[in-house]
Amino acid sequence: MIPHSRPIFDEYFSASVQSVVSSGYTVSGAQARLLEQTIIQHLGCHDAVAVDSGTSALMLAIRTLSMQKNIKRVGIPAYACASLLFAVRAAGCLPVCMDCDDSLRLNADKAWHIAPSLDAVILVHPFGMIEPLVKESWPCPIIEDIAQAAGAMIDAKPVGSFGDVSIASFHATKPWGGAYGGMVMASQAICMQVRAMSNPDLADFTQSYVGHHPLSDIHAALVLCRLERNQQETLQRQQHMLWIDKHLPQSYVQSISNRGIGNAFRYIIRSDGDAEACIQHLHAHGIGAAKPVQKPLNFATDEPCEGAYQAWKDCISLPLLPTMSSHEYQQYEQGLKTCFKH
Ligand SMILES: Cc1ncc(COP(=O)(O)O)c(C=O)c1O
Repeated sequence: MIPHSRPIFDEYFSASVQSVVSSGYTVSGAQARLLEQTIIQHLGCHDAVAVDSGTSALMLAIRTLSMQKNIKRVGIPAYACASLLFAVRAAGCLPVCMDCDDSLRLNADKAWHIAPSLDAVILVHPFGMIEPLVKESWPCPIIEDIAQAAGAMIDAKPVGSFGDVSIASFHATKPWGGAYGGMVMASQAICMQVRAMSNPDLADFTQSYVGHHPLSDIHAALVLCRLERNQQETLQRQQHMLWIDKHLPQSYVQSISNRGIGNAFRYIIRSDGDAEACIQHLHAHGIGAAKPVQKPLNFATDEPCEGAYQAWKDCISLPLLPTMSSHEYQQYEQGLKTCFKH
């Protein structure tokens, strides 16, 4: 089966991890600090804190914003990763779902309708596309989530430089993937609070929450290697996108992928109503397709989100890999031909 994701870890990654292990210092240290500085330079932000996951980064971002103003209702996209829902709950807040439109970005009319009732909002650049609403002015603080679109640009500015706080994930399958990890990018004041919430040994006992969240140097070393490869891997994924375009019937091609300004992270198509059956069919032909989102998050909150529901029924994410063997290309082409009859 051609896997849905296949991060490449070659000797360069192995040597880098080996040198951290050989140094005898594996916890958060020089590599994690270098990673923070690298991302500060890339985004042009004031400060950054490397943490143990994107979910922790979200939770810590919400908790930190809560220290400045009372935050209860946090808007999240309904068609997004479940980590968002759990991060909001872990911060003691209430997730409020915002529906998507056919492009899988937020439905702007519905978002503006909900916005006045929110205390904070998490805006996700989904599946390697851009969420244009990050450029707008919201009546509440924005947490910009670049887990899936890291490296993409809007109007020549990198994603992650628009929110009051931004977060990244370094989960292995993400564009900046190492193994596990995440980052909070924000002002020095916010990052100082995040650091204070991330180290129980140094914590002030009056704090309501502190957890052990620093990113280890082993994990940071993997991400630093990935960042060096990122531009090349993005170009390779873009090439693979063009290849898929050529081998899909026209009606499926780029049906919702707004690739021009994204980072070519996912190739998502709409089936005609039964994504599950289509995925099974693709699997039977050796293509490891997957649902882009396992379950819309409004299933947990009981809010009506018709766009997210339809996307859940229709959408399929095809493997989009930086490299494939010629045998895999043949298998992929044959599988697409059989499953999507021209
Ligand atoms: C958009 C988005 N934000 C946050 C996360 C959470 O990141 P992590 O898996 O590093 O906790 C994910 C994970 O899949 C994600 O897709």
